[in-house]
Formats: sequence, C-alpha cells, structure tokens
Amino acid sequence: MILTGRRRDALEETVKAADCGRVIEADLADSGALGRFCDRIRENTSSLDVLVHNAGVGLYAPSFATAPEAARQLMALNFLAPLELTRRLLPLVPDGGSIVAISSIAGKVSFPGMSVYCASKHALNAYADVLRMEARGRGIHVLSVCPGYVTTAFVNNMLQGASPNALPGRGRFAITAEQCADAILAGVLQRKRTVVVPKAGWLLVAAERLFPATLHRVMARHLPASRGE
Ligand SMILES: NC(=O)c1ccc[n+]([C@@H]2O[C@H](COP(=O)([O-])OP(=O)(O)OC[C@H]3O[C@@H](n4cnc5c(N)ncnc54)[C@H](OP(=O)(O)O)[C@@H]3O)[C@@H](O)[C@H]2O)c1
Repeated sequence: MILTGRRRDALEETVKAADCGRVIEADLADSGALGRFCDRIRENTSSLDVLVHNAGVGLYAPSFATAPEAARQLMALNFLAPLELTRRLLPLVPDGGSIVAISSIAGKVSFPGMSVYCASKHALNAYADVLRMEARGRGIHVLSVCPGYVTTAFVNNMLQGASPNALPGRGRFAITAEQCADAILAGVLQRKRTVVVPKAGWLLVAAERLFPATLHRVMARHLPASRGE
C-alpha cells in the first residue's frame, strides 16, 4: 500500500496504525509534484492492484461569487489530478485490477452553494463511466463512490466559504469514515459500478433523475445558499 498527501506525519500515523504500506508525500494539485510522484511510483513499484483517487477539497460559495483561483485549485485536485494519475499509472494496474474514484452524492445531484464542487464531481463520475467502458478489454473495474455527509475534517478544509449545518445529509444520515471505507471495500470486492453511501442517498439520486424541477424548487426554497447565506 502506498499512501500520498501533503502531511507526512498524518500519513505515517496511518501506515503505523495499519501496520503496512509506505508514504510518498505529494501535493497532487501541483502538476509538477504529481509528475514526480508518478515517477517515484514507477521506479519502485511494478503493479498497482487498486488505484484510489481520494484526495479532494470542497468550496461553499454562490456560483457567481466563486473566487477564480479557488475554482482552479479545486478542479486541479478533484478532477485533473485523477485524470493525470490514471494516464500515468494505468500501465501499472494489472488486467482485472480496480480504479476507485471517490466522488460524491454532489456528483449526482447539484446543490446550491456547491457549484464548482458539484461540477468537479459530476465531471469525475462522467470520466469514470467512460474509463470503465474503455478499460473493459483489460477487465479493469472502475468504481465511482458517492458518499453523502461523512464526519471527517472535510468541512474545515474548504477552499472558500464554510458549509452550513443545514445541508442535506448531516444529522441522522451522516456516516463515519469507517462506515464509508467498509462500503468502498465491499464495492471493490463485488466489482460494483457505483456505491452510494448511505444507501438513502439513492432516493435523492432518483429524485434528481425523475423529478428534477420539483427537487430543485425544494432545494432553492430550503437550502441556505439559495437565500444568499
Ligand atoms: N466528508 C464528506 O462529507 C465527503 C462527502 C462526499 C465526498 N467526499 C470526498 O471524499 C474525499 C476525501 O475527503 P475527506 O472527507 O476525507 O476530507 P478531508 O478530511 O479534508 O481529507 C482530504 C484528503 O485529501 C488530501 N489532500 C487534500 N489536498 C491535497 C493535495 N493538494 N494533494 C494531495 N492530497 C491532498 C488530504 O491530505 P493532506 O491534507 O495531507 O494533503 C486528505 O487525505 C474527497 O474527494 C471528498 O470530496 C467527502
């Protein structure tokens, strides 16, 4: 197992707790650093059974007031990094291996206040769908993971703004990182196309598909960003 991120200490703590794996530090939003990271992987590793695109960041602001630099950074990490990592590392994924894209329920449903984040995760889901078709010949499994609200440090790490407590998915539908990881592992082992976790999120996905106008009217009425908060 190889873990990456910018904070070596946190990564080393995880490797110690798991009692396996190693750390290669990298800022994946920086294309030069991402390239050097891939070079190091290729120098030291002959095979990647499962490639997980997990690094991601949020942003909470009205669509017309999103800071351009924050939008660029978000797209660089949430969308362009998985593209480039896949381009460079796919040759190391063996036939029958897995690629996991950690997307979001916001990659299936569009929420006020989260336009750029939703755009990045919709884009990631579309990319994963196409990759799945294209990698079929090699038997490579591509999984899109669409969590609702997971109790991590995510809300403290927003590139802009702060997500309000009233967002759907908070409260009784919130899940822990461990519950999310269990659902991801089951999705890999069962070679699923999509994991929505918690499963109640499928109701929102179905509403977006079947009654988009009604759902958007309800969200526009009730979600704080629609009222300029
Ligand atoms: N929490 C939720 O409610 C939720 C819901 C749906 C989807 N997700 C998705 O789940 C994924 C993980 O998020 P999380 O909830 O675990 O949030 P988090 O606690 O903020 O963790 C973000 C992870 O991404 C890494 N990261 C951030 N910027 C990076 C960069 N520039 N280069 C390399 N690594 C970077 C962080 O490591 P370093 O800080 O060490 O770089 C950390 O491991 C994201 O893709 C997020 O969009 C989260």
